[in-house]
Amino acid sequence: MRILSGIKPSGTIHIGNYLGMIRPMVESQSRGELFCFIANLHGLTTMFDGKKMAGYTRNAILDLLALGIDPDRSVFWVQSDVPEVAELTWYLNNVTAVGLLERCHAYKDAVAKNIPANNGLFSYPVLMAADILLYQSHLVPVGKDQKQHVEVTRDIAIRFNNTYGEVFTLPEPEITEDFSAVPGIDGQKMSKSYGNTIEIFAPERELKKKIMSIVTDPTPIEAPKDPDKSVIYALYQLFAEPERAKAMADRFRAGGYGYGDAKKELFAALWDYFAPHRAKREELVRNPGVVDEIRKKGADKARAIALKTLARVRELVGVK
Ligand code: TRP
Repeated sequence: MRILSGIKPSGTIHIGNYLGMIRPMVESQSRGELFCFIANLHGLTTMFDGKKMAGYTRNAILDLLALGIDPDRSVFWVQSDVPEVAELTWYLNNVTAVGLLERCHAYKDAVAKNIPANNGLFSYPVLMAADILLYQSHLVPVGKDQKQHVEVTRDIAIRFNNTYGEVFTLPEPEITEDFSAVPGIDGQKMSKSYGNTIEIFAPERELKKKIMSIVTDPTPIEAPKDPDKSVIYALYQLFAEPERAKAMADRFRAGGYGYGDAKKELFAALWDYFAPHRAKREELVRNPGVVDEIRKKGADKARAIALKTLARVRELVGVK
């Protein structure tokens, strides 16, 4: 079974990204053959600074390798390193009804917010379909916001197969566990746009400062507290051993336990949880040649498969 996952480069990775996307991606390596890529071409629909884009892409490679993507077991590449995906996008464009794209959320949201949509944003789902179909993927794990795009991919694949002949595997979306409720340091949902994120690879002092600035209520130290109303506890239980999480909940309820102490424990839990990944990332940063080599090898592996699909598609549409 071939599982395909794409992740847009966004600069830095926070706890919400990790739980919602990256951890399931890493875990899927033991369920099937993972195809995992950094969707920098999709990033270009909303990012117009080339230097930044290149930096974000580099960071994403480091982050994913550090967090457990195994380039020997999986096919791991940068989307634009297989430029044939853009060629397939063009063929798919011609079997894609405008109405289908007009119904897609990303575009509809932009229109609703009066953001002038560029054509890249409008045809975003076609490029996504090309990602999925080029590699003949069976399963596409996505958050619920992306489910529609996988359904559009199926529509496009069916239309192409019916028009030209059976070439594409029909992918199934798989909805990943919803971590959109993970709270940020202000208690709202953790999101880059709210500026309330906790970056997993932040330097020690910065991470500590972030954790210490989690907003709390003015309940005095002595008073018993409800752990289920606390952002600190909500985050702690996601990363601490269950017995430790239970111990924190008990201390909250007992009273005489202040938020400052709870924050220190949360910091320690996060710092420990990501310690091996941080070490791995530092090692990669010290060895840029190794990273370049991984990037190149991944692109070669992906490209070999892409070219097989594309050879058939080119023939079917009659361009060769
Ligand atoms: N659109 C996805 C997101 O915003 C990223 C993505 C691009 C993707 N191409 C993909 C995800 C193909 C799955 C399959 O998260």
